[in-house]
Amino acid sequence: MKLHNNSRYLLFTLISGALIGSLTLSSCKRDGEPATKTDSTSTSSSTSTTTTPGSTTTAPGDTSAKASPITGKALEGQKIFYNASFGQKKITCASCHTDGQPTTQDTRIRQGHTLAGVASRTSTWNGMFKGEDLKKKAYGAALCAAVYQKKADGNVDKALSASEAEALNAYFEAINGAPGAITKNINIQWGSRPAFNENEEVNDKEATASVKPILKLPGDPANGKALFSRTCGYCHTYKEKKAGPALSEAFNNAEFAAKVVRTGSGSMAFYGKDVLNDQQVADILAHIQEEISK
Ligand code: HEC
Ligand code: HEC
Repeated sequence: MKLHNNSRYLLFTLISGALIGSLTLSSCKRDGEPATKTDSTSTSSSTSTTTTPGSTTTAPGDTSAKASPITGKALEGQKIFYNASFGQKKITCASCHTDGQPTTQDTRIRQGHTLAGVASRTSTWNGMFKGEDLKKKAYGAALCAAVYQKKADGNVDKALSASEAEALNAYFEAINGAPGAITKNINIQWGSRPAFNENEEVNDKEATASVKPILKLPGDPANGKALFSRTCGYCHTYKEKKAGPALSEAFNNAEFAAKVVRTGSGSMAFYGKDVLNDQQVADILAHIQEEISK
């Protein structure tokens, strides 16, 4: 099975079925999420559209007291960050990124890096956004809103209004010195560049090569089980559809699943090597295989 063909089909299904898409994803919030008390995604429940932690607080933990207060435009940006109805899919920025605030300090392993410090980066998304585009596209948040949240039907150029970009930029400034901030440019360690719309294709050779080392490792299903609840478990179960498809059907085979983990698929974001290392992916796959063969 070719990764990109499949992704294309899934993308098409999702674009053509906005309603279905959002229904699918809303179920993720209700029963899917493992109960981690501090998990921000589960607090943005399907009934309320916005969950704003500690409205006008300052970014905590920065004892140098340089953090700006989160008010005005920055507060608007914070609301976007926690808004499960920002796009057509019920998923928030906080599902995949921390913001250095207590609300996102939990045990979840998120696909994206922290956004604390992003306002100091000069190139994001491995060079896709730099110069003037940084501010216009909210440091690349426009890509996430389009691809992962299905805002503006997946159109990156239309995903953020000027006002939304401004609000997010102001929030990024406000959290720039928050705990865990990464101010240097990130080297995103995907298996291969994902397809961000139906006109793009994944380099399947590269994606396949990137998972070879994973498939050679013996996986530890017990460790995989623990990791699963901090990663895939937020969006997948084995037998039922949640935000993502039931893994008993979607898993396919270890090589395919490993490629999805490393390179993403449609609206599923990849896990870079520095987010989950090869051994961790092998452990997770061993656990899933054990579960679906039951
Ligand atoms: C489904 C997961 C997911 C969602 C939802 C998501 N992102 Fe991302 N985002 C990623 C991944 C993966 C990257 C790749 C870079 C990384 O690892 O940080 C990324 C990259 C970024 C970057 C560029 C970072 C860099 O240095 O390259 C910004 C800025 C960003 N996201 C902001 C946002 C904002 C704001 C939202 C909500 C409007 C959002 N993201 C929603 C997964 C997500
Ligand atoms: C934030 C939610 C989220 C997380 C976390 C997540 N997935 Fe997914 N996954 C999805 C969505 C949504 C899709 C469907 C993508 C589409 O249709 O565009 C998907 C699809 C898949 C597919 C099928 C892909 C295809 O092309 O048929 C596999 C396999 C998969 N995920 C495995 C995993 C594994 C393994 C993990 C954990 C390491 C994981 N996912 C974590 C949301 C998620």
